[in-house]
Amino acid sequence: VKVTFVQADGVEKTFDDVATGQSLMEVGRFNNVEGIMGDCGGSCACATCHVYVTPEWQAAVGPADDIEVATLDMVSDLFKSNSRLCCQIQLREELNGIRVVVAPSL
Ligand code: FES
Repeated sequence: VKVTFVQADGVEKTFDDVATGQSLMEVGRFNNVEGIMGDCGGSCACATCHVYVTPEWQAAVGPADDIEVATLDMVSDLFKSNSRLCCQIQLREELNGIRVVVAPSL
């Protein structure tokens, strides 16, 4: 699938042919997308993989679960209604073309 990250500095990084089954955080970290740290390794505990899902993708991505909402509280100053922790977004065919904006670091 195709995935686009918009970094906080405005630079866009698009990756084609990304395998499904991995998280968006893994894709970002592996490809050195600025601002995607994934310090906790994807266990929804660090909030260093915070992104904003662009409006047209929000429905397909779906809402955060309670654990993710609790972890997002760590970045409450930067929280928006479209905030997600991208380690909790598993890539699947329906997300082909997804576009997310990387949240600034605290
Ligand atoms: Fe730590 Fe996503 S990688 S919360």
